[in-house]
Amino acid sequence: GLHTLADFPVGVAVPIDPWPNSVLQSPQRQALVEQHFSSLTAENGMKMAYLQPEPGQFEFGAADALLAYAKAHGLILHGHALVWHTQAAPWMDAHQGPAGSFTEILDAHIQTVAEHFAGQVHSWDVVNEAFTDDSPSAYRSTIWLDNIGPGYIERAFRLARAADPSAELYYNDYNISGALPAKLERVLAMLDDFLARGVPIDGLGFQVHIDTDSPSLSAMYDAFASAAKRGVKVRISELDIAVNQSEQYRALTPELARLQAERYRQVVQVYLQAVPPAQRGGITLWGLTDGDSWIPGFKQRPDWPLLFDDSFAAKPALAGMANGLRGQ
Ligand code: G3I
Repeated sequence: GLHTLADFPVGVAVPIDPWPNSVLQSPQRQALVEQHFSSLTAENGMKMAYLQPEPGQFEFGAADALLAYAKAHGLILHGHALVWHTQAAPWMDAHQGPAGSFTEILDAHIQTVAEHFAGQVHSWDVVNEAFTDDSPSAYRSTIWLDNIGPGYIERAFRLARAADPSAELYYNDYNISGALPAKLERVLAMLDDFLARGVPIDGLGFQVHIDTDSPSLSAMYDAFASAAKRGVKVRISELDIAVNQSEQYRALTPELARLQAERYRQVVQVYLQAVPPAQRGGITLWGLTDGDSWIPGFKQRPDWPLLFDDSFAAKPALAGMANGLRGQ
């Protein structure tokens, strides 16, 4: 399996109950998970809306079932995500009141969730996607920023560390692995500030939702290396490689599959070159099969971004990733 080729976690994001294709209900998915991976992330099920659907009402059943499954098979669980603006609970989005009432909501969610999973999850995405793609407004306007101010990010990290001192704490974002260097600079400025002031943060998660054309390998290298230079952990947290950016294909051709396999190999190689062993937080694929991927729905076109096809068969991308991990 893939994970035997790496001395860091190799993971995959999976739907949990009650979503379609829940790994907990799918023997075919379980077979692939157990063969190839050492880490799991809930693709949606541990986000705010699903863990706290109503004020003060926490629903841990499905996530606990994932945790039990992971433990039974020797996998670690990465928590995603304590704070995000997308998939906050509708009651959170609808909330109105003074800043203090929003910090109460934020605090209660983080404390309850991080305490529930304390000592059980390996790591958390504490805050997800807090920066805009373009200046001048560095921080993204969200219910958290708009009502609490930028201090909500630091607050979230401090609360998470207090609630679960053993979990590694990550800031996670997209378009920072070479696509938008200025956005990465803003994330790194926050990281430097947190490190200088002793705000607890252990690493950066680079989502790496990319395609076969861009970003360039050298831009990716520079991005990972600039984070590694800070001495923190670096994760590839949500890897997928789209191939149909020109929208001309109706099926994955052998040529596209080869291109994609080579791209997987190169991305892994760049990660290994840019991040010293002790700082490798791991690589997680954002989905198991092409049919599970969020990309076609989001981009409204067919695509085949992952390592396995709809019949659970390995694509050339799997071999590409394996070769990357082997240093070949
Ligand atoms: O739960 C509802 C269901 O009740 C309804 O019938 C159905 C109809 O569309 O929608 C369901 O909600 C969907 C939700 O996933 C849960 O399945 C949303 O439409 C859909 O937009 C949502 O997409 C998720 C997306 O985050 C939300 O922004 C994707 O599955 C998930 O892969 C994606 O993951 C994110 C990471 O969390 C953060 N980084 C980017 C990444 C990709 O967008």
